[in-house]
Amino acid sequence: MKILVINGPNLNLLGIREPEIYGSETLEDIGNWLDEQPDADTHDIIWFQSNHEGDLIDQIQSTISLFDGIIINPGALTHYSFAIRDAIASVNTPTVEVHLSDINSREEFRKVSVIKDECISQISGLGKHVYIEAVKTLVNHL
Ligand code: DQA
Repeated sequence: MKILVINGPNLNLLGIREPEIYGSETLEDIGNWLDEQPDADTHDIIWFQSNHEGDLIDQIQSTISLFDGIIINPGALTHYSFAIRDAIASVNTPTVEVHLSDINSREEFRKVSVIKDECISQISGLGKHVYIEAVKTLVNHL
């Protein structure tokens, strides 16, 4: 499978950013870890991160006919970006929403995901393991 992993605002600061919530590993560490997992190493997994909503939308659109699945952690955009929701709805690429932290046990505003209904699954609160669980979810979906 060819999978695009899209990470949104502030996830480039993993390792520095609120380590008590998000852990001490960088996004690159997590990408390298994922590549070595037996459930992932047979797949072609491409990573992308941007702090800009439009760039995330461009990446979602770029999956048409080219990728078998998307794993997306939209950061705070999860909670209010109808444009990202529409982009996921516009492409026919199965998409799994992931969050390192448990968005349901934090502030009220994090409990709302405006993209959830357009995704085949939402996985949250397992730290970096959300990414491997998302790979397995995509594989099982096909
Ligand atoms: C996050 C949760 C979001 O609420 C937050 O804005 C993030 C990271 C997570 O991975 O836990 O930036 O998506």
